[in-house]
Amino acid sequence: MNQTPPQRAGRFITVEGIDGAGKTTHVQAVEDAWRSAGRDVVRTREPGGTPLAERLRDMVLHEPMDALTESLLVFAARRDHLHTVIEPALARGAWVLCDRFTDATFAYQGGGRGFDMTVLSQLEAWVQQGRQPDLTLLFDLPPVVAAERLRQARQPDRFEAQDGHFFERVRQAYLQRMAEQPHRFALIDAQQSPDQVREAVLQTLTARGLL
Ligand code: TMP
Repeated sequence: MNQTPPQRAGRFITVEGIDGAGKTTHVQAVEDAWRSAGRDVVRTREPGGTPLAERLRDMVLHEPMDALTESLLVFAARRDHLHTVIEPALARGAWVLCDRFTDATFAYQGGGRGFDMTVLSQLEAWVQQGRQPDLTLLFDLPPVVAAERLRQARQPDRFEAQDGHFFERVRQAYLQRMAEQPHRFALIDAQQSPDQVREAVLQTLTARGLL
């Protein structure tokens, strides 16, 4: 009798935090660890991750627009990304590591811009059809520390150019999201040294059977 082999479930891990939290370095460490363990890894980011979504990212980061337009564009990018990259990868059993996802919309458009979170929840339900990350690593640190790190880095985009009050609202919205869905989040103290942060990230993943 022909039997289809059981489908290996994929994993969906997202990484979040205010600009300057240093998450991108640690995304690389997670990718390296997974690859060393022989995982089928898909590393991606939002807004972005597909040719269309990368074009939308460029607009969102550089063109003036209001918060509703921003929200619609990041969810349009997300729809394309989920449909063409994330869902197919999870279906074949890949481990997907995504630098930002919907928590960033609640934090930046909801918290930072003050846009209606009820509308964001509706867009979330509509676009994601119940899909949520298995784990979200939230890199948390005070905006003043993050701003100092950013100052030494690159030319700021529309978000990076915002003031400390904006980032305090973004940070609080992330923490609020974590309070609402505690099972899904792990808080990483991003004020520690890069080595300590890396250790905390790898320990968190190990504890959850994700390494
Ligand atoms: P990145 O620099 O970490 O790649 O993120 C790009 C910027 O886009 C960052 O400032 C946060 C912002 N952003 C939103 O405003 N809403 C979103 O839904 C996402 C995913 C990112």
